[in-house]
Amino acid sequence: MSGAALLGLLAALLLLLLLLLSRRRARRPGEPPLDLGSIPWLGHALEFGRDVASFLTRMKDKHGDIFTVLLGGRYVTVLLDPHSYDKVMWEPRTRLDFHAYAVLLMERIFSVQLPHYDPSNEKAKMKPTLEHSNLQALTDAMYANLHTVLRGDPAEAAGDWHESGLFEFCYSGLLRAGYLTLFGVEASPGTLESQAQDRTHSANIFHTFRQLDLLLPKLARGSLSAGEKDQVRSVRGHLWKLLSPARVATRALRSSWLESYLLHLEEMGASVEMQGRALVLQLWATQGNMGPAAFWLLLFLLKNPEALAAVRRELQCILCQPGQPVSQMSALPPKALDSTPVLDSVLSESLRLTAAPFITREVVVDMALPLADGREFSLRRGDRLLLFPFLSPQRDPEIYTDPEAFKYNRFLNPEGTEKKDFYKGGKQLKNYNLPWGAGHNQCLGKNFAIYSLKQFVFLALMHFDLKLVRADEEIPEFDLSRYGFGLMQPKNDVLVRYRAQL
Ligand code: HEM
Repeated sequence: MSGAALLGLLAALLLLLLLLLSRRRARRPGEPPLDLGSIPWLGHALEFGRDVASFLTRMKDKHGDIFTVLLGGRYVTVLLDPHSYDKVMWEPRTRLDFHAYAVLLMERIFSVQLPHYDPSNEKAKMKPTLEHSNLQALTDAMYANLHTVLRGDPAEAAGDWHESGLFEFCYSGLLRAGYLTLFGVEASPGTLESQAQDRTHSANIFHTFRQLDLLLPKLARGSLSAGEKDQVRSVRGHLWKLLSPARVATRALRSSWLESYLLHLEEMGASVEMQGRALVLQLWATQGNMGPAAFWLLLFLLKNPEALAAVRRELQCILCQPGQPVSQMSALPPKALDSTPVLDSVLSESLRLTAAPFITREVVVDMALPLADGREFSLRRGDRLLLFPFLSPQRDPEIYTDPEAFKYNRFLNPEGTEKKDFYKGGKQLKNYNLPWGAGHNQCLGKNFAIYSLKQFVFLALMHFDLKLVRADEEIPEFDLSRYGFGLMQPKNDVLVRYRAQL
């Protein structure tokens, strides 16, 4: 091709691109307000990427609780009316598909592609492994593993002060114990030597996992630098080896959750390599929120003496019944897991302030979306629908007075029972706090997570002296890149001192 012809072709392509970019979509009658932003094709993508919560608050103030925005070539309808969430969360997949986005993230972040993958079928299979007698077995194992990890080498544990970041302390403690509980331990029955190996091996898992976790938002958005891409390749490869089916097969006391999941992968025809990758994905799905949840909860307590005293009183009361000292207990009294309304309220309040997952659906057919107040909006096939409970209900001033503040008894009635009645627009809400998702997005491990978090808090407060290094420490800001991925993480860690009580 001659130079002139090539130039002509390039000019024609450029013209076509400009035409495509400038062909702006117009709002049709019955559709939600449309906001395209000022940059062709990109729309509001940059502002959305910088700080999702501030951007969506601005859009909500401008358009109300339903609107469509352009984000990097995609039209996303955002719904922020919690009275209407159920209509979306239970809608069948043939109209609002919740698989496509999950599969996309699974491939992009964890390089997992599973033949015949059906998330609904997988959830149905895995649910029983986290319930009833399996839940009890997991909870008992978690307590033993928290002891192994937190109390460290008995020779070192004898009352020496340690200094650490609180986030590191929580994330490492919970992920390592959670990993040992789900994936198994070195030996059964455990010996001092095998427990020391459990500590070293789980610390290796945590440090490798954390390197991937830190790059996760950029990985999901496809904005890694060349150096970061190399780092992801190397860390992911290391994790795949650490969790390869051959390595996992040598472990003792593996959970029924793991056994069932491996069987499910085999039944789907996943290759051995893909099975290892899927296990890394599961490590993230089951453990990625635990440490951050414990961090915020403990930090809010350490910053609120009245709340801390109320929780301590409640836990001490459970312990004042005749029994062993905490250091010798092999399990917590059932009351410590099921009858702690103050701690339950503190957990709900911490999660209300810090849980920010996206709930997304792909619109499969042109359809009408009826809202709870009687309005109805048309949705276009190919668009995406997004619910963001972090803004409403969780931080909605109409539902919670002073919504940015931590109030430890917000979920407590005056007589000490759980408060469940919250209102918006004069109408009682069904979904007033959604850290665990709901509908098709409900967390399968909710009960196990709650029991594990309570056990961790119990040990942190009753077995350790735990204090902030600087009493005037501010609550750190969020790392804004983590909106959409579950629990928020802090921009910086907070130093604490701790020592095991003798
Ligand atoms: C504080 C801790 C946790 C929080 C806040 C949390 C929250 C969530 C949320 C919001 C979802 C819905 C995701 C979606 O489908 O959109 C979810 C899904 C899930 N969670 Fe949790 N979770 C936690 C801990 C755990 C634990 C400890 C386990 C299991 C041992 C677990 C197992 C799962 C599983 C298997 C799913 C389904 C994942 C999927 O859809 O493929 N979670 N969790």
